[in-house]
Amino acid sequence: MKQPLTASPSACLSGRIRVPGDKSISHRALILGALSSGVTSITGLLEAEDVAATAKAVAALGAELERSNGVVRVKGQGVGGLLPPSAALDFGNSGTGSRLMLGVVAGHDMQVEFTGDASLRRRPMGRVLAPLAAMGLQTDADEDRATFPLVVRGTSDLLPIVYDLPVPSAQVKSAVLLAGLHAPGRTTVVEPLPARDHTERMLSFFGAEISIEDRGAGARAITVCGDAELSGAPIAVPGDPSSAAFLIGAALISPGADIVIENMLLNPTRSGFIETLREMGADLEVLDRRDQGGESVGDLRVKASALKGERVPAERAPSMIDEYPMLACLAAFAVGETRMEGLAELTVKESDRLSATAAGLAACGVSARIEGDTLVVEGSGSVKGGGLVETHMDHRIAMAFLTLGLGARNAVTVDDISMIATSFPDFVPLFTKLGAKFS
Ligand code: S3P
Repeated sequence: MKQPLTASPSACLSGRIRVPGDKSISHRALILGALSSGVTSITGLLEAEDVAATAKAVAALGAELERSNGVVRVKGQGVGGLLPPSAALDFGNSGTGSRLMLGVVAGHDMQVEFTGDASLRRRPMGRVLAPLAAMGLQTDADEDRATFPLVVRGTSDLLPIVYDLPVPSAQVKSAVLLAGLHAPGRTTVVEPLPARDHTERMLSFFGAEISIEDRGAGARAITVCGDAELSGAPIAVPGDPSSAAFLIGAALISPGADIVIENMLLNPTRSGFIETLREMGADLEVLDRRDQGGESVGDLRVKASALKGERVPAERAPSMIDEYPMLACLAAFAVGETRMEGLAELTVKESDRLSATAAGLAACGVSARIEGDTLVVEGSGSVKGGGLVETHMDHRIAMAFLTLGLGARNAVTVDDISMIATSFPDFVPLFTKLGAKFS
């Protein structure tokens, strides 16, 4: 059943806040933990449905998981040592968990059924199956149109490949690199633009041989040496910048707001949102930048700011792909036109986020249009609100428009908040504690 929620214009936010653990790093910590020898202790693991689905999947494949005092310990089976599951692996809403695990299963001699919820069952899997099939993964599905449920058969005789990514996708890159761990020789993925690099960083942290070659104009070739051995290592998961984006957004549009988001991931492949907001005039300051397990983290101070419209170039899209719904909502509060270019990938997320964002803005009285793969928002400095926004089973659409409602002149209702549990279960209580009015 759908759970609607209304966000009303709210007073300013202040104080120091922590956001939940990064979703991308949480999935990878569980998966690499399962492929390692020894124990991987994870602190700050995101407790949300998407990551719980990955935890269940690695346990079903033979990894031992134990949780005590906020620490999750994964006892791995070593590269190639996972066992056939007794039932289908259900990844719920999670594209990341499922696509990365297709790469893992590819290197094991076993047949596995992958499935998920209605949103995941609509998402394209051919982009991962194409390179994995070239390495030796078998499936009966038509590669170009493949969707879950899907039965695949892996092999312990994978072939290493060189793969040019047709789209700048960290999920596809990671699936191929994870499969490459199981193949003899070197597996290389060439990405046209830098997509999030947590897999490479964590693989190297766990002892895999990884090399990265700069190919110019943002392109990179990432090579992993196969028949690898990984050793479990401690991982402290930093705060998720994609969840922090909603707090950043709320602070920017509530007059007088001044917040510090503590312990947030500051990886450059995830920083496009902050870069763009600075160009739009946002008052953002990084405090105490430090290194944590191969990733850069710090505290981010955000003050309410007057924003102006800007052009956001297509090359920046991979570094802020999940932040566009929030950015588009903030563009509505800016003065002038914001053009967000190169958004084709947004159409294949948990929903068609390009259409869902444009429709949500229109429902809130904002002038927005789609031109090919560009989203144009005409900001007028304030937002009327008052609309009902359809979320299409998409957590980020729900959170972006609830945030917009906090700064609009009239309350905004989203039709369903149940999917927020996939990435940020504490969103409503956390925002309420900070002064947000929801009903
Ligand atoms: C993710 C990669 C991105 C992103 C997703 C998380 C990851 O997807 O949208 O939320 O952890 O690798 P794509 O690889 O499809 O761009």
